[in-house]
Amino acid sequence: MDASPPRVGFLYAGELTAEQHAALAWLKDESFDAEAVAFDDLDADHGDADEWEVLWWHRDAPLGTENPLVAVAATVESHLAEGGGLLLTLRGMVAVAALDVESVAPDATGVDSVTEPTGPLWRRLYDDHPAVADLDERRLPVCDRGAVPFARYETVLPARGEVLAATVRGEQDIPHEMTVVSWDEGPGTVIGAGARLAFDEPVADEVAATRNALTAGLLRATTTETDHARPKTAAGLHAMRETVDDPARPGCHFTPPANWLNDPNGLIRWNDRYHVFYQYNPAGPFHNTIHWGHAVSDDLVHWTDEPVALAPSPDGPDRDGCWSGCAVDDDGTATILYTGGDGRTQLPCLATTDDPNLCRWEKHGDNPVIESPPDDLDILETEHWRAEFRDHSIWQADGEWHQIIGTGLEDRGGAALLYTSPDLREWHYEGPLLVGDDGPGTVWECPELLDLGEKQLLHVSDYENVAYFLGDVDGSSFDVQRRGLLDHGDFYAPQSLRDGDRTVMWGWLPEARDLSAQWDAGWSGALSLPRVLSTDSDGRLRQQPAPEVEALRERSLPTPDALTLAADERERLTDGDALELQLEVALDDADAVELTVLAAPDGTETTTLRYTSGGELVLDRTNASEDHRATADTRRMAVPPYDEPLSLRVFVDRSVVEVFANERHCLTGRVYPTREDSTGASLCATGGRATVERLDCWAMETDVARSEEPSFACAPLPEP
Ligand code: FRU
Repeated sequence: MDASPPRVGFLYAGELTAEQHAALAWLKDESFDAEAVAFDDLDADHGDADEWEVLWWHRDAPLGTENPLVAVAATVESHLAEGGGLLLTLRGMVAVAALDVESVAPDATGVDSVTEPTGPLWRRLYDDHPAVADLDERRLPVCDRGAVPFARYETVLPARGEVLAATVRGEQDIPHEMTVVSWDEGPGTVIGAGARLAFDEPVADEVAATRNALTAGLLRATTTETDHARPKTAAGLHAMRETVDDPARPGCHFTPPANWLNDPNGLIRWNDRYHVFYQYNPAGPFHNTIHWGHAVSDDLVHWTDEPVALAPSPDGPDRDGCWSGCAVDDDGTATILYTGGDGRTQLPCLATTDDPNLCRWEKHGDNPVIESPPDDLDILETEHWRAEFRDHSIWQADGEWHQIIGTGLEDRGGAALLYTSPDLREWHYEGPLLVGDDGPGTVWECPELLDLGEKQLLHVSDYENVAYFLGDVDGSSFDVQRRGLLDHGDFYAPQSLRDGDRTVMWGWLPEARDLSAQWDAGWSGALSLPRVLSTDSDGRLRQQPAPEVEALRERSLPTPDALTLAADERERLTDGDALELQLEVALDDADAVELTVLAAPDGTETTTLRYTSGGELVLDRTNASEDHRATADTRRMAVPPYDEPLSLRVFVDRSVVEVFANERHCLTGRVYPTREDSTGASLCATGGRATVERLDCWAMETDVARSEEPSFACAPLPEP
């Protein structure tokens, strides 16, 4: 960077500490025009904001109740109002709350004992931030030894500030230790870097070089006008999507604009538009500080991003997160029930809206609406929760509201607890609707009860799988007649929407690459395609892609109508990383038929879907990716003999392979081929001949999620 270094007013209270002396000496060594400025002198002699471009408070001592910045707040404010910068390092970041820059203070401060290279883990979204203009990496170890004071956000997010970096320690990424935050204050910029930027203790040369470049970058960045506030507008969400342009990002499955997505929530059709909310972390692609993201669709398959719909209230029962929940129409008022988290307590909370676009929600004044889990049950207590008790499914029957909440019973297993209410606010516990036989330690998350007409379906997510039970609600218990898994792959915590007389479900497709790969990608999590659930004439479950998905077919690809596959001969079908393949396979005397997709021409990467004569469908990811951070495991499901011949609908969408077998069984897998030419699709019979009786193939649209201005229904939410 050629720009001349900014003039720095180095703030201190009382005497300079050894650490502050070292930082000042560093400024001089790096040829900054710097001066130590005692707080006491700031108002009297140095009220003029022009004197320094940046005020830097490098505070290593604990910050008691006396915060010297408060006394000079007016001077600092006018400094910022004139476009000046403020850098707060070590424990200095704590001062943002007293300074009216931020309403939520960092929730963790102390002294770290550093024994290995440690420092900021920069967000992919901010690769172009001026603070890191001279740095090529996202992992920025700035300290490798010593006792280093810090301030950071861990379980809460700043209300206004935008997180720029978390923490890397040794080989480990620690996303929930959020250490670098920036605030736009009119034309001025405040950056808090509670990371381990320390100067007194000698560190390895390489580490010192990163520390020096980052500190200089942060000082410079506070005087550079940037637009790095947390994106709250359509343009901001759109820019996020554009920035995070990872080749693994699916194009016809919904993904968050950037950052983290898990469960779909609050699915509802309202004023003729479909609304999907989802568990969202605005601070990066990891599970923490959960908000409700929001997207709308007119046709079930194309989505427009809307601003975050629900955020934790710093003083509320949802302080640590707005967890999963559902939406209902309460006689014309859209109402959601979700799980609020606060410390080790999780309880149901309610919010309503009269906004026709469902963007602005008002939390009920008397949350939580259930004050504690039932006390006559031995509810599972874990390290994280005093009682595992969360997630909601609500329906109306016999003039009453009914809901189930997921839990685990200490000596038994997962359970869905039934409640009733006259008004969604006052709830009476009726007893367990169903208790699992899955053993102690299991929790049933996201239970949902669906009325499929002839039969009712209850599904629960037990950390591993989504189990379903088909049967009838009999009074206040569930009579199970059939059971199975909704999907045998990467599919979790689904939720459904009643659309006329059909039931449409989406599930969360979690990533199958490690946390640091997700961090580098800048986004995590996709939703499945919408699936229509029903039962067939024998009372068995059917799952089909919603007919609307056909609108995503961009063009039909030439393929033979039918094929006879000779033993061990490969038949090339087509190329593409966004495909729908529809085929009907009979094994004849073959041991198996393999459909390979996302295959490189030389076979170094290939994802194999294998249908075996043993009645199994196997998704083999052993060679799916050359990236060691991606899973190489194999997922399988039984396709019972009554299902012969096998009809398959396979959706290939970059890192998603979503398979519907005989409109009944689903197997979804995430795969991460690294090569641009890993796009081949082919068929092969092994150990004998097989017949493909029908074969169709389409190239799919690759841009279903949009965040363009014109269709943006919601104005950005006011700042808290
Ligand atoms: C399921 C789940 C829910 C919880 C939410 C938190 O994936 O763990 O039980 O409400 O995610 O994000």
